[in-house]
Amino acid sequence: MRRLSPSTFALLTTGVTWAVAVIIVTGGAVRLTGSGLGCPDWPTCTQDRLVAAWDYHQMVEFVNRMVTGIVSVAVILAVLGAWIRRPRRRDLVLLACGLVAGVIGQIVLGGITVLFDLAPQLVMAHFLLSLVLLSTALVLRDRAGAPPTPPVVAVADDVVRLSRVMLFAASVVVVTGTIVTGSGPHGGDTRAQRFPFLPTETARVHGIAVTVFLALTVFAVAALRRSGARPQALRRATVLLAAIVAQAAVGYTQYFTGVPAALVAVHLAGAVAVWTAVVRFHLGLFHRPGAPETIERWREPLRSNSNVPTSAVPPTTTSAPTAPGS
Ligand code: HEM
Repeated sequence: MRRLSPSTFALLTTGVTWAVAVIIVTGGAVRLTGSGLGCPDWPTCTQDRLVAAWDYHQMVEFVNRMVTGIVSVAVILAVLGAWIRRPRRRDLVLLACGLVAGVIGQIVLGGITVLFDLAPQLVMAHFLLSLVLLSTALVLRDRAGAPPTPPVVAVADDVVRLSRVMLFAASVVVVTGTIVTGSGPHGGDTRAQRFPFLPTETARVHGIAVTVFLALTVFAVAALRRSGARPQALRRATVLLAAIVAQAAVGYTQYFTGVPAALVAVHLAGAVAVWTAVVRFHLGLFHRPGAPETIERWREPLRSNSNVPTSAVPPTTTSAPTAPGS
């Protein structure tokens, strides 16, 4: 069986992460173009048609279902890649399997959402599950590029605690955001039910959550600067801060301009960027000592070359266990 080097697998996980991020935005496009019930049936488009007819809404919904197909292939490749990666690592295999389970869950939940005429609770759950999937992909990507040693905190303990609070605050921001959407005009179809809340009120709660999240992030940047933290942690915190500020600007602009669909799409992409940034910020506070396994990349050809005496192969500097399933 073919083997996959750690660096190729890391590249594969980058692709999977992008695929998961992109489908969140294309899924949002279905809602924003009012095409949520373009294909009113599932898994076929309509009761008597497997694929969409030449109709705008049917096409939009159907293309998104095809994007789902691409994401499904990507996560299956992640499992296969983790399996044939050498050294094989149990944590990577399990995370990749988690992605497959998440995509299956999303396909079923997406189908149920259509069958229940885009009930806002289901639309909300569909979006939030996609962020869980994105987080899993980000953790997989992070681990794929690091040695399998236990993580060591690379900053002051207070910053780690603060970052956990930030993850919680970010979760409150996205949950309240989906409630604003569920009470606003972009339900995915004119027949879609809406939450019985005033969008102005839910947007106010969402805005307050954002302010708290922003304040915590400013605090984190200041704490990292003060403690002279390693550049990666500070860089990721600064990226997060910039993403929140930009996203808040889009949020207020769309709020005061009657939530035009194009701006809401930008806000949705911004939410994916902010979520990615906060997860990456958290992951960047830890490091795994030991040489990266990518060292295997140049050791493997030497080993497989029978003309090279084994004594010519340099001793490994990695502390990574190489046994399968480690
Ligand atoms: C960190 C900054 C922010 C994040 C991460 C964020 C995230 C989100 C998310 C995840 C949604 C739901 C998207 C969906 O269900 O498709 C949303 C919707 C919304 N957000 Fe934000 N948001 C942020 C800042 C703001 C701010 C400052 C405002 C201003 C009040 C705002 C106004 C809105 C509005 C009006 C909607 C509903 C849009 C619609 O009709 O679909 N957001 N936001």
